[in-house]
Amino acid sequence: MRTAARAVVAVLATTATLSFVIQPVQAHPHAKSLRSVAPRDLRIGTAVAGGGHHVDQPYPDPFTFDKPYRKVLAREFNSASPENQMKWEFIHPERNRYNFGPADAIVRFARENGQVVRGHTLLWHSQNPAWLTEGTFTKAELRSILKKHIFTVVGRYRGKIQQWDVANEIFNENGEYRQENIFIRELGPGIVADAFRWAHQADPRAQLFLNDYGVEWPGVKVDAYETLAKELLAQRVPLHGFASQAHLSMRYGAPDQLAGVLQRFDDLGLKTAITELDVRMDLPEGGVPTAEQLQTQASYYKTVLDACLAVDDCNSFTIWGFTDKYSWVPVFFPSEGAATVMWDDFSKKPAYYTLRDTLARARR
Ligand code: XIL
Repeated sequence: MRTAARAVVAVLATTATLSFVIQPVQAHPHAKSLRSVAPRDLRIGTAVAGGGHHVDQPYPDPFTFDKPYRKVLAREFNSASPENQMKWEFIHPERNRYNFGPADAIVRFARENGQVVRGHTLLWHSQNPAWLTEGTFTKAELRSILKKHIFTVVGRYRGKIQQWDVANEIFNENGEYRQENIFIRELGPGIVADAFRWAHQADPRAQLFLNDYGVEWPGVKVDAYETLAKELLAQRVPLHGFASQAHLSMRYGAPDQLAGVLQRFDDLGLKTAITELDVRMDLPEGGVPTAEQLQTQASYYKTVLDACLAVDDCNSFTIWGFTDKYSWVPVFFPSEGAATVMWDDFSKKPAYYTLRDTLARARR
């Protein structure tokens, strides 16, 4: 797909030259946003802050109340991922009650601002409501609860979601099915295929993804996903993509083998995506990163973007929040932080400029 885009760009080059002649001086060259410089076949996304850890923080719901935040969200991105607002505990807090308001608001905002939405997530071991995890259900009941949930949530946003993370983090570090996942534990791994089938029935146009962290380097986890993907495809299960979350820490080195990993799934005919990129670091005393740390961080961001750009059908590149103001990192990884591309006041770090330059170069 990227090759085709290049051809289109070549054809459009004449037009571009003309408009340059007509409008030779750009008033604010630095006002260019990530979405505006990105290759046309690549969506640039962010998590939309709200729910989850934000609920315990001393600020009101970011997406609802932070106007400058909403402005940057609209300006920089053409894909939006609800950070928590479509997770079970948030959208389905009681067995017979759904809480669609916050997710609806994001989907509406996305439509108004020319953004696609990545739905997140349907089958996961974490952030499930107590009524589900602590309830006593027969296997048949549990299966029907999952099926109903998928039809209700995916059905509500039918036609409005570009990609769904259907199955999230279903393998542990040893490449085994996670037994913490209530559906996998109680119903067996075959439930994964069912989740994809149900999601496809509920929204035939949505692209359905496997999504996980710790798949940025080759290893048993990636092998497990490759085996599963082959099995699902052989069974004609509607699986369309494989995604790397890419929650990175500078403790573990640069993700320099990511392109190779993505390529293995591209070779199976799947789309690939980066869905939750952030790059955390150990903060020095005082909490302010050094210039060198910021450069290393920028290079990690670039390595991940380059990996996506190198793979034909990697069409979605999402960072897990764009400002440190709302990042989940300091809450979940004490002593680490500064993981996003903007400071608390939305001013830009080197990582932001590196992403933008890399995108602009890829578009040409
Ligand atoms: C995180 C959110 O950012 C937090 O707000 C929440 O408290 C916990 O979950 N993998 C995922 C995401 O798939 O849903 C997680 O998001 C981060 C790890």
